[in-house]
Amino acid sequence: MEEESLTTDINAGISAELSAAYIRDFFTQPIDRSDSGAEKYDLRAHLFGRADVLPMWVADQDLPTPPFIIAALQRRLMHPILGYTHTSDRLCASVVNWQAQYGYEVDPAALVFTHNVANGLFLAVQALSRPGEGVVIMPPIYPPFEQAISRNDRQVVAVPLLYQPSVDQLSNPQASQATDSSDSYRFDLAGLAQAFARDDVSLCLLCNPHNPSGRVWSRAELAQLAELALAHDVILVSDEIHGDLTLPPNQHCPLASLSPAVAQQTVTLSSPGKTFNLAGLQIGYAIAANPVHRNALQVAASRVKIDELNLFAMVALEAAYTDDGKIWRDALCQHILANIARLRQALAELCPAVRVIQPQASYLVWLDFNPLTPSQFADHAALQAWLINDAKLGLNNGLSYGEVGQGFMRINLAVPPSTLEQACSQLRQAFGITLTRTDDD
Ligand SMILES: Cc1ncc(COP(=O)(O)O)c(C=O)c1O
Repeated sequence: MEEESLTTDINAGISAELSAAYIRDFFTQPIDRSDSGAEKYDLRAHLFGRADVLPMWVADQDLPTPPFIIAALQRRLMHPILGYTHTSDRLCASVVNWQAQYGYEVDPAALVFTHNVANGLFLAVQALSRPGEGVVIMPPIYPPFEQAISRNDRQVVAVPLLYQPSVDQLSNPQASQATDSSDSYRFDLAGLAQAFARDDVSLCLLCNPHNPSGRVWSRAELAQLAELALAHDVILVSDEIHGDLTLPPNQHCPLASLSPAVAQQTVTLSSPGKTFNLAGLQIGYAIAANPVHRNALQVAASRVKIDELNLFAMVALEAAYTDDGKIWRDALCQHILANIARLRQALAELCPAVRVIQPQASYLVWLDFNPLTPSQFADHAALQAWLINDAKLGLNNGLSYGEVGQGFMRINLAVPPSTLEQACSQLRQAFGITLTRTDDD
């Protein structure tokens, strides 16, 4: 692609010409993120103890935000006044239309806008449970789930997901590349039934699809969870921020779309932030069909006066939730699938004992290094040190997703192919060094 085609034409509306091939070019260009305040790059020394690791951690993309969104923001900036902006019917209609693609009928009156999705989680805990009560989560889990509970003086009731590496992997760790995440993690329904039966539990936080494993919960699995929640009157908060990036042939099933009864028991949280690389704008919304839950959320939001999106978040959301957005999203999913396949191929060659949990959604890959402990790595800390100092990779530490993340790491594959090749080459070199060391021992 010509360098200049990455500079956005502010009049660009590209739906007519938007082809997968055209979009693919955007995903192959490395983009220099220095001097852009990018957390992923700027916090390396602080987080990893050295600034030269290849950063493949926090969940934003090293791929461009779609040009039609940038163009919409630029068009808005042509207006000289950036004053108070209200939540328009058009904005609500954008969310309603977007969710309809998943068979999720949203009443615009059910929408509560939040600062971002993590903020929505915190608000939901404040609004839908009381201090001292237990709130259920299913580790391994995106860290703010635990934080939303403990920082609000509630008790974490952990019901870990059941981890089931495939039979092939267990019987022959050297042939362990074949993991499909469909058999990797499952709900512990017996554990959930026990937790939901507790008198002090009335809330459960679900990640659908799941971060970090990339599991897309099937309709049947969600129905089992919902049945338990209805039986025990437990409210389900379903964080669906990764739903748009459900990788074919998997299909995103919004929890609240299961039935009107489940919708009444569910608060959905979502955002275009992950799909369209808009995290810096801070965008989030909750969908609460149950007026009691909605009112509680609105009261919690009004206590800190965060009850509307900022102007640029509104503009970006409306530009994202369009037909152009769907075409871009589909092309992005293909790019992610290709990157996952490449990583699997590289690890199969370098070290087949590493279990690659094939994501069914999104660009985060959960890697299980446990078969290499203690033969290659004495413990989790040694693995982490090897990744940072030998492979020079900045990944998410599995332990930040809970104790069950021991021996796991999460890698972010929303990168151009050249970045992934760099990561593979660094891994190749590091595995070479490690093996040499082992041979010498
Ligand atoms: C499951 C999940 N929820 C929420 C977020 C954060 O979303 P936001 O930036 O809108 O707070 C992330 C980011 O990685 C996530 O993975």
